[in-house]
Amino acid sequence: MLDDKIRNDFPFFKNNQLIYLDNAATTQKPQIVIDRMADDYTNHSFNVHRSNYMAAQRTTDAYEKVRTTVSDFIGSPSAKSIVFTKSTTDGINIVANGYFAHQLQPGDEIVVAISEHHSNLLPWQRLTEKCDAHLRYIELNEHGQLDVQQAQKVINDHTKLVAVAAVSNVLGNLNPIEQLAKIAHQHNAEILIDAAQWVPDMPVNISAFNPDWLVFSGHKMLAPTGIGVLYGKPDLLEKIEPTAVGGDMVTSVDRNHFKAQPIPIRLEAGTPNVMGVLGLGAALDYLNTLDMHMVQKRCQFLGQFMYDKLSALDGVVVYGNPIRDTGIVTFNVEGVHAHDVASALDLRGIAVRAGYHCAEPLMQALHTNATVRASAYFYNTQDEISQLVKAVKATKEFFTSYGH
Ligand code: ALA
Repeated sequence: MLDDKIRNDFPFFKNNQLIYLDNAATTQKPQIVIDRMADDYTNHSFNVHRSNYMAAQRTTDAYEKVRTTVSDFIGSPSAKSIVFTKSTTDGINIVANGYFAHQLQPGDEIVVAISEHHSNLLPWQRLTEKCDAHLRYIELNEHGQLDVQQAQKVINDHTKLVAVAAVSNVLGNLNPIEQLAKIAHQHNAEILIDAAQWVPDMPVNISAFNPDWLVFSGHKMLAPTGIGVLYGKPDLLEKIEPTAVGGDMVTSVDRNHFKAQPIPIRLEAGTPNVMGVLGLGAALDYLNTLDMHMVQKRCQFLGQFMYDKLSALDGVVVYGNPIRDTGIVTFNVEGVHAHDVASALDLRGIAVRAGYHCAEPLMQALHTNATVRASAYFYNTQDEISQLVKAVKATKEFFTSYGH
């Protein structure tokens, strides 16, 4: 298993005492990614797909090599299926506005989970409203997991898309995406996987369940912000009406018309985030050297330890299934607002996120207006989790000792 020495790869921990447990929001960067990006900025700062001198061509080759690295990383059958985007949100909006906006008919249905992040909800809310289609929900069962039996009733022959997160950014459990993909495909519906909290934490092989679309972000897996990935089946990507047109995505243009490039370039108009792509490549190379099975083991171990210790505290409610899949744990201290808990933890040098985590319908389903979320990544330590638990206990005692 990866051990605490892995922190030596991250300069942040040498320079800062903060106990950083907000990794579901974004991750710290290893020195190797910082160094590769510094070298790319210093020596390889050229545009891609345009200039034909050798130095620029090498940057283009490096950019395209990352596409293959990404494709291999998620088990995609072809690098043609990989489109570079700004973010997970951007990828979902491209699919909603460039594809489903042209497919959806009145009366069609889109199914999402009640636990979706707003980024995998708002595009579908807006689109179904605009197209006179319907949005339907997969609910949670009594164990805080997506209810597959209820999903079987909600997904039907009117369903055009099932859009679900593989891992909820709040609950942290792995959702039954293989079963949902099977149900969707039985009804000739497509399935889109929000993999933002999934790809960073464990090995992913999409060929096992054949999703139609999958999106994730680089910055939650050691890469810079501003770079994301959209995977799509090639025949579906071909049908996207590009939401942006302009430079690089065309083969020819006359006064009145243009002819678009083949996928994926036709979906990457303008100068892309070259440095973001190269940084993502560096992050994936690093994760490959660690081995994603080892990353998964460590995240799961830390998440389970955190869940068990927090659950054992009096007056602390921990949400989600007791068997943990990732390092994300969400909880509340009874009688204390989540923001107060987070501020008290901050005063003790512990960074967590509190609020509704861009998932308001889930908060309603959990009958709360906010939670505290602590999210560990493989570079966190068991000792840091113990300090969190101690601080939560002290916070509870501090707040509840007044007014009695
Ligand atoms: N989606 C990120 C989170 O859950 C920002 O915190």
